[in-house]
Amino acid sequence: MFVNPENIHDFGTIFEGIELKKMTSRHTVNLQKTIRECLDYGEKWSESGLYDLCSTLVYESITTTLFGSSVDARSIVKDLKSFDTDVHLLAYPAPYRWFKPNLIRSRNKIAKRLSSVKNDDSENVFVSKLNELASLLSKEDVGSINMAVLWAAYGNVIPAIFWTYFYLRRYPNIYEIILREIESASSEAKEDDLIYSMPHLDGVMEETMRLTANALIVRECMQDMKLMIVNAGYEISLAENDILILFPFASQIDEEYFPRPHEFVHDRFVIGSPNQASAAARRIHAPFGEGKFVCPGRLLGKNVIKWTIVAMIKQFDIDFFDDCETIKKPTMLKSRQGFGIPPPQKDIRIRYRVK
Ligand code: HEM
Repeated sequence: MFVNPENIHDFGTIFEGIELKKMTSRHTVNLQKTIRECLDYGEKWSESGLYDLCSTLVYESITTTLFGSSVDARSIVKDLKSFDTDVHLLAYPAPYRWFKPNLIRSRNKIAKRLSSVKNDDSENVFVSKLNELASLLSKEDVGSINMAVLWAAYGNVIPAIFWTYFYLRRYPNIYEIILREIESASSEAKEDDLIYSMPHLDGVMEETMRLTANALIVRECMQDMKLMIVNAGYEISLAENDILILFPFASQIDEEYFPRPHEFVHDRFVIGSPNQASAAARRIHAPFGEGKFVCPGRLLGKNVIKWTIVAMIKQFDIDFFDDCETIKKPTMLKSRQGFGIPPPQKDIRIRYRVK
């Protein structure tokens, strides 16, 4: 995806430590702006899909968090949505894409909007780095790279928020635990610290990803080698330039590591809980990939999911039209299997109001 693999490491450090903290705090401001300016307030209920609501909360806020306000994120929200709907076609041979002019149109519009990003905030190191990189590239390449980063960010975060919120409402006793955790965290911590002090919500997010994150991890072999398949007790020979595809999801639903593998067990990832997963199981759980090319945005992604879920719980009344406790988990969108976290095949109807 990147011009050369080294660039990605530069970018990875931007989403860590103090820069991560600054980005997360910028994101909370942008999220509140979206809630204030893009949704109705007051007693009136609005009808929507749950996935649609999650998308509205993310598109503009994450675009502005990453690229700053000079990009006018609101003007490309429709294109981000249209691109997200058909993005899987870009992985197919060309003719499939030609039948989707909307996909090409929205991709071009987003890439154009992101082809020159002004640094309107000296605190935004991500934009400074992008601009350094941009000086070596054509405008079109800059737009395409920025767009790929933006999709990598929202394309997984929105479904993660959807599934996390779905599981919370599906199991009201767990919702209560998280509600209490949010209430006590907000009374004890400064707003800034809130993100670091909710082990049960962290655990619910990890368990949600264990059940839904099914990216294919693609690697190219740099030299001839033998790869030992540990549990199977045999090795395979790989030649230079061979493509290796790993599928961590297979282990995430392996009974040997995760008893009752298809069940949502909210405290598997909570340290010291009765259902705590073994150290080996926690190691093979890899929703963000693994190794040198692990997702560079994973910490920011988790923070965005967390803050959005906290906002949905604290600031919204959300009613499902169907009984939450008996509602079946929607199937995951088939066309997005293997890309990361798939959206649902069909949205869940809700009504909501901002408190
Ligand atoms: C729930 C949220 C997310 C999930 C599940 C996720 C998952 C992944 C996975 C599985 C990969 C491939 C890793 C590998 O090959 O080992 C990846 C790559 C990547 N992710 Fe994420 N991601 C998320 C959020 C984000 C965010 C918020 C950003 C940006 C701020 C981001 C930026 C990227 C980029 C740029 C790559 C490509 C790295 C490369 O090409 O080497 N991701 N992500």
